[in-house]
Amino acid sequence: MSDHFASSEAASADASTDLFFADAEPGDGQRWTTWPSVTPTERGPQPWPAWVVTSAGAFDTELGILKTGKEADVFLIERAVPDDPTQRTLLAAKRYRSSEQRSFHRSALYTEGRTTRNSRDTRALAKKSVHGREVAAAQWSFAEFEALCRMWELGAPVPYPVQVSGTEVLMEFLGDSAGRAAPRLAQLRSGRAELTDHYEQVVDIMRVFAAPGFAHGDLSAYNLLVHEGRVRVIDLPQIVDIIANPQGLDLLHRDCVNICDWFTRRRVECDAEELFAELVAASFA
Ligand SMILES: Nc1ncnc2c1ncn2[C@@H]1O[C@H](COP(=O)(O)OP(=O)(O)OP(=O)(O)O)[C@@H](O)[C@H]1O
Ligand SMILES: [Mg+2]
Repeated sequence: MSDHFASSEAASADASTDLFFADAEPGDGQRWTTWPSVTPTERGPQPWPAWVVTSAGAFDTELGILKTGKEADVFLIERAVPDDPTQRTLLAAKRYRSSEQRSFHRSALYTEGRTTRNSRDTRALAKKSVHGREVAAAQWSFAEFEALCRMWELGAPVPYPVQVSGTEVLMEFLGDSAGRAAPRLAQLRSGRAELTDHYEQVVDIMRVFAAPGFAHGDLSAYNLLVHEGRVRVIDLPQIVDIIANPQGLDLLHRDCVNICDWFTRRRVECDAEELFAELVAASFA
């Protein structure tokens, strides 16, 4: 269990309270919902989808790990009001790592010019102290949350961003009600017709990003999930401004090459250079 959730010792620290509020306190692997404790800017765009549980009486229950990664771990969370089946939802919690083992290989390319809110943070970041690593991890979670909000509002098929707090982003879980995550595009064994349809959906996603001048920056068949026949895009902390970022065009080009190589190997006709030219033109329009 992660340290975001109560351990049994913590949950039963006060035995007398346990006695009286046995049903109302978070148990093992649970915490109170973190929704009431975040500021309005740390919540997803309005209108909140009807499935978002906003009750202060809800518990968050950690149901398992969806994936551990180099930079973040993704957990499956249930947010639910006890004894109210109408207020129950599954969420994906992406938690950025602040440990020393975390690789910062993405940082240099994408974070040029990023500012911190105070000079203590800036110094801590520079020194890579424990606090500095926390600050860096939180910067990634806020960057991903902001990118998800922006792209959601532009109509891109990203998971709805529910909230961000510290190093954790909570978002819509793409999967079934039993908690099985939607497969990555890379895992599917699709036929030609389906692949062609998926390719067209991916290009549509790239167009939605490019129109206001963005590239995903790490697009691959691993960061695309296929949920109920629709291609959804995830893993956005590094989205780049194609024009303002000195690496913008290169990263857009790399996205085009990654995607077209993958589909070409599966005999879907596509041309990375043509796609790149179209998206560059769209982003400058
Ligand atoms: N909203 C979601 N719904 C369902 N599954 C998700 C969701 N977000 C992430 N996942 C699962 O977690 C995996 C890792 O997510 P993501 O790519 O955002 O993190 P990452 O740390 O960058 O991982 P990697 O280094 O493998 O790219 C995804 O491939 C997917 O299987
Ligand atoms: Mg990823």
